[in-house]
Amino acid sequence: MGHPLATTVAQGHAFKNIIDGKQVEAISGKRMDVVCPSDGLPFGSIAASNADDVDAAVKAACFAFEDGDWSAMSAVDRGRVLLKLADLINQNAAELSALESRDTGKPIKQGIADIAGCARYFEFYGGAADKIHGDTIPIPGDFVALTLREPHGVVAGIIPWNYPAQILGRVAGAGLAMGNALILKPAEDACLSVLRIAELALEAGLPGGAFNVVTGTGMDAGAPLSAHASVDFVTFTGSPPTGTAIQQAAAVNNRGVTMELGGKSPQIVFADADLDAALPVIVNAIIQNGGQTCSAGSRVLIEASIYDKFSHMLAEKFSALVAGPHDADLDLGALISKKQHGLVQGFIDQAQSDGIELLAQGSIAGNAPEGGYYCAPALFGNVPAHSDLAQKEVFGPVLSAFPFKDEAEAITLANDTEFGLVAGIWTKDGARQMRMAKRVRAGQVYVNAYGAGGGIELPFGGFKKSGHGREKGFDGLFHMSTTKTIVFNHA
Ligand code: NAI
Ligand code: MG
Repeated sequence: MGHPLATTVAQGHAFKNIIDGKQVEAISGKRMDVVCPSDGLPFGSIAASNADDVDAAVKAACFAFEDGDWSAMSAVDRGRVLLKLADLINQNAAELSALESRDTGKPIKQGIADIAGCARYFEFYGGAADKIHGDTIPIPGDFVALTLREPHGVVAGIIPWNYPAQILGRVAGAGLAMGNALILKPAEDACLSVLRIAELALEAGLPGGAFNVVTGTGMDAGAPLSAHASVDFVTFTGSPPTGTAIQQAAAVNNRGVTMELGGKSPQIVFADADLDAALPVIVNAIIQNGGQTCSAGSRVLIEASIYDKFSHMLAEKFSALVAGPHDADLDLGALISKKQHGLVQGFIDQAQSDGIELLAQGSIAGNAPEGGYYCAPALFGNVPAHSDLAQKEVFGPVLSAFPFKDEAEAITLANDTEFGLVAGIWTKDGARQMRMAKRVRAGQVYVNAYGAGGGIELPFGGFKKSGHGREKGFDGLFHMSTTKTIVFNHA
């Protein structure tokens, strides 16, 4: 059952920005409501920040990076602060999970998993902070050449609402471990766990200014942050069009970016696969977080000889799925917002009016509040290759099934979208596992497994429109830093 805190946490609380180690109101004094997706009702508020607040946060980060206590801290001490933060997140896990669930509408069990994941990022990167080192390079003549791995400086992280705590973990974990100073702009739709974890970071001993959080809309707070001339690097997770806008803004200052822009990830199921093992993983990969997961497995490609059998197995599972309030802890919660609900429902309605076969649909719990943004999960079959359902990121609990006749067709279908984030391959044939894994265009490939959103230790990021740069694992540390080469003449 859900945690009892999940219905009451943060009731009526006015959350503030965190700038230079202090909680501050937006300079304009403006606030905006925080809404719980489970009932559509406001239960607190956040600062509605603009360019002035962003500027104050960037100034604090610049000072922390160049002159403040953060700039003087050794890698081993940075690591210790992050490990302490991991402990504090775990100690406060009940409150943080309840907050995350109420803010996003996700079932409390998912909130618990997300907070544990967030703590694990700080544990991983805290342990890694003093284990990054450069090279010595042989060059002709009386020289010694070496490299240092240096932080970018001031890093802006613009993050989405689907996994606020987890994405904070991967951005701040890697960014702080390398010694950058951060400004996070979480999504206006869900940012409470981010604010609370930034407070815990101060308690863990992080110097003020090293980690600032500015809340507000993308236009008012995100756009000025990505365009700020004193920001050295921008990392973004969210939609492709916003990613384009952020890259254009950062390009004016010629700054580097990491872009994680979602996907249309395939699960490829061959006739020889262990179908009973594959089934729950494939279902979970699309309903986890209501399908609002960049790495959701939103397409299932099924070998023709088992298409009827396996789509029937999927349909049985889908019919039994129930969406309901976060504190009821069912298969899935509400979608994040009325807007997102409209988008997802639009895909379902369009597919039905286009005559695409609806194989099964789950339900919405009878006691789900009227004003919540619930969507019954849907499974569509024989989806036409060029339909929206086959090509576009729905970002909701909608799975599209496609038959394929052989490996070649499976690869063509798998790679036939603008995206390339994750893929799952289900087969017992070892040579085919490797052939398929090499030919599929995706940043992560799972064989007889699938990791929607998982893998703190694993490099993660996209091909094609899914973005560029990598987060998570040690790759995350390299992208949060840059190489300085030093050459000594000892002739
Ligand atoms: P979005 O990409 O617009 O928002 C993500 C973040 O960017 C938020 O913090 C937002 O405030 C900020 N932002 C928005 N416009 C900005 C701008 N011009 N400059 C700087 N920052 C800006 O995503 P949105 O509107 O919340 O959702 C729309 C669609 O995006 C979803 O339906 C889904 O398909 C996709 N999406 C994908 C995510 C992923 O993890 N890959 C996460 C969230 C959304
Ligand atoms: Mg909310």
